Amino acid sequence: MNKLVAPSVLAADFANLQRDIEMVNDSKADWFHIDIMDGVFVPNISFGMPVLKAISKHAKKIIDVHLMIVDPDRYIQTFADLGADILTVHHEACTHLHRTVQAIKAAGMKAGVALNPHTPIAVLEDIIQDLDLVCIMSVNPGFGGQSFIENTYKKVSQLKHLIEFTNSSTLIEIDGGVTDKNANQLIEAGADVLVAGSYVFKSDNPTDTIENLKNLIN
Ligand code: DX5
Ligand code: ZN
Repeated sequence: MNKLVAPSVLAADFANLQRDIEMVNDSKADWFHIDIMDGVFVPNISFGMPVLKAISKHAKKIIDVHLMIVDPDRYIQTFADLGADILTVHHEACTHLHRTVQAIKAAGMKAGVALNPHTPIAVLEDIIQDLDLVCIMSVNPGFGGQSFIENTYKKVSQLKHLIEFTNSSTLIEIDGGVTDKNANQLIEAGADVLVAGSYVFKSDNPTDTIENLKNLIN
């Protein structure tokens, strides 16, 4: 399968958001990665529904929403209405994860589950076949621009084995600290989608950076 690049809009210039959205539209990027933080599940607040609505209006690619919020069930229909194609919730934020995943699908979206760096892959054993995407956090969620945690490679391999063993079709997404320095090793371990925030938006030429990353992993 073609390996995917998902620029994280958290690192965009919010005063020029439309410009940055159009840049992604016109680039080789595959998805928009949208980080929603509530200041409770993670120690930071990013942006909420009105901003996502504005992004949706201009975005011409898949919208991959990463919820870093407690009790995400409250907002599943809202995110569907706002144009989310994929909705990812945190394992650590859901008491009834199976119910949440089914509700995401019933609302017409693909369902993803994200794991914090300390959460073992084994917690997914009984839900992997229901998932469209697993997001392995390669930093502690809450902020862009952090350093990549090396233990991630091992987790990607473990998840890849679980997916093969259960014959499931879940995509493996990596989120946090992704650059050209770790991209290939992540793909070799089994990753399908690389999220990249600072590496893309803080570079001199984000369009070229996206294209180079895409070429590097394909
Ligand atoms: C972190 C977010 C990431 C973040 C990635 O909590 O989930 O998506 O935007 O940013 P970089 O690529 O700068 O680590
Ligand atoms: Zn994210």
